[in-house]
Amino acid sequence: MMKAVKISDKVYWVGAIDWNLRDFHGYATHRGTTYNAYLILSEKPTLIDTVKHEFYDEMMERIKSVIDPAKIQIIISNHSELDHSGALVETVKTVNPEEVYVSAMGLKDLMGHLHKDLKFKVVKTGDRIDVGDDTISFVEARMLHWPDSMFSYLERENILFSNDVFGMHLATNRLFDDENDERIWLTEAEKYYANIVLPYSDIVLRFLEQVKKMGLAPKMIAPDHGFIWRKDPTKIVNLYAKWAAQRPTNKAVIVYDSMWGSTEKMARQIADGLTAGGTQVKLLSMHHSHRSDVALELLDSAALLIGTPVLNSQIFPSMADVICYLKGLRKKNLIGTAFGSYGWNGAPIEDLMRTLESMQIELATPALKTSFVPDEEALNNCRALGEEISRKITAKLNV
Ligand code: FEO
Repeated sequence: MMKAVKISDKVYWVGAIDWNLRDFHGYATHRGTTYNAYLILSEKPTLIDTVKHEFYDEMMERIKSVIDPAKIQIIISNHSELDHSGALVETVKTVNPEEVYVSAMGLKDLMGHLHKDLKFKVVKTGDRIDVGDDTISFVEARMLHWPDSMFSYLERENILFSNDVFGMHLATNRLFDDENDERIWLTEAEKYYANIVLPYSDIVLRFLEQVKKMGLAPKMIAPDHGFIWRKDPTKIVNLYAKWAAQRPTNKAVIVYDSMWGSTEKMARQIADGLTAGGTQVKLLSMHHSHRSDVALELLDSAALLIGTPVLNSQIFPSMADVICYLKGLRKKNLIGTAFGSYGWNGAPIEDLMRTLESMQIELATPALKTSFVPDEEALNNCRALGEEISRKITAKLNV
């Protein structure tokens, strides 16, 4: 039988580890994930969040290792996305709690998911509930990253349950920050920010200010993915402030695909021009890279250069995929341009410039197009474009 793990006086981790997850709705989770649920053994036993549906048995085994599930009186659903609410209906059926607390938007979203009223009781920021020998207060975290997102704060034990926020997709049986390798978690936490939280960066900055004003200084931050922050919870909070600011560094990301190697030749010459200008380059072929790894590389970049061949008068399908994905992530503070090889219709490469503009990317140069295989002059032009972008990055960073 799988066991609960004690994380403080009265709080147990009763979640599940998804070692095999490699795709989280389009995000490549190379290292799996966890779905964290927390059981508070207060006078009124309380469960915070559940797990993805197929991990219900694992969660229930862990719960049963410390308490008869029927004794749980309160369930709190901090977030309605199905990796946390997928097991809610079954859990409520087993536990039969007195109440299931949700935010107002949580009620709407859960009804949309489950089509079933589970004795939901709506709470808002500032509301507090008595769980016997402790109190839980609520802070709505709207659009971090869904309208319903909510934090729960266990006051006496001083633990903040932050749901998705401050989490990462990392399957680990080491439940605390100080037990995990920083070289790995830093990349995974940054990737999670870049792929999930980034579009809401302005809200992150406002929310961090709000929490600061509330004077919250939790001894632990317990998110619903990855591990629990106990050694230094401010570390991840400060990282969020840094990532949300989206300050560019002297780095450019070149994302491209190629049919017969011509756009690739262009990309490599552009990269060499950027290198000559002193700019760090990440050259990412969409034949070999995942869109979510592109998003990670873009987080601290100053420029996005998109290269595409033309296929049937369209940009290459893999490029349409990555651009659609990046557009949704709304990365700020980028300059950019488009380039590529075409046969007889170069218009789609020009269209790409308009797409970049619609993504609020400042166009740094006109599009650079080559018909069929680039000759020496075309390759020199690519190198010059790289040097030009590098100069523009340096000028922007020095303002
Ligand atoms: Fe981990 Fe938004 O769900």
